[in-house]
Amino acid sequence: MSECDATAGAVGGGCGWRAVSGERLVVQSASKLNIFLEVLGRREDGYHELDTVMVRTRFCDTLTLIPDFSGSVRLRFSDSTPVALRSAVPLDGRNLILRAAEQLRGLGDSGCGAEIILHKCIPPESGLGGGSGNAAAALLGCRQIWKLSVSDERLHEIAAGLGSDINFLLSGVRAAVCRGRGEQIQPLPLSGSLYFVAVRPGRGNSTAEVFRRTSAGTERRTSAEVARCLTEGRADLLESCIFNRLTESAAGLNSEMADLQIRFQHAVGKPVFMSGSGSTVFAVCRSAREAREVRQTVERKLRVVAWSLEV
Ligand code: C5P
Repeated sequence: MSECDATAGAVGGGCGWRAVSGERLVVQSASKLNIFLEVLGRREDGYHELDTVMVRTRFCDTLTLIPDFSGSVRLRFSDSTPVALRSAVPLDGRNLILRAAEQLRGLGDSGCGAEIILHKCIPPESGLGGGSGNAAAALLGCRQIWKLSVSDERLHEIAAGLGSDINFLLSGVRAAVCRGRGEQIQPLPLSGSLYFVAVRPGRGNSTAEVFRRTSAGTERRTSAEVARCLTEGRADLLESCIFNRLTESAAGLNSEMADLQIRFQHAVGKPVFMSGSGSTVFAVCRSAREAREVRQTVERKLRVVAWSLEV
């Protein structure tokens, strides 16, 4: 199993933190899949009002936080972070880890500092919320290493100010209906596990660009059916109600993704859906065993790397 295997984060429940020693904290930074996404309308602030269902997957990045008294936060990649991902992830002030850490540093004393080592596995611009998970992990981790008495509510306020998907990954819940820009979380009780197989084309999608090209549906769909499948443990019915309003606009922007989605469908004989604003596309499986088989089939037939994403 490689350090970036999608099931590697399964140890210890997928997400959360564990102290390795008194001097460093290792935090798992989870990803999400949108298994339903409807755009309800465009808001005055330019964002779109959503009705979406997110599930947290065990495909994780890892943040190692080493506290110090330097009064600054430095970010670097782990030595084993794949080279292909390094060029796509900035390590400067644009990175949500540094933006989250800086906000928390402002709430501590001036000496609060840290080195943060990012082991990156989740590709950016994938619709998997990798950057959002990193921000959530940085908020939780920095609060811990600097021993800040910041409430969960305050952490959620900061998260909402940084992005739309961070609150879900910060909440630690496995599944939720998310409304507003995506930051309003209504947890869904989930019984059993869910299994998905995902692939991503070489090119990612810009979330802002995909939203810009999308209008609210004339025949509006609701997340109620997907939510019911999850709470009633009917994963077998999930495939029939998964929907993503952003798919068409994303496909218009990224023909490689659209082509991959069709080839994936043909290769495995199942419907294939897009997560978030893409460019990850995924199929639903009934069991870990089926997910293994689907993954092998898609890798063999399409000659791509596929991930088994377990929830
Ligand atoms: O909030 P986040 O940084 O993830 O969003 C990236 C971009 O996606 C926003 O700047 C906005 O253009 C678009 N977006 C949107 N409506 C949402 C979420 C994101 O229009 N609900």
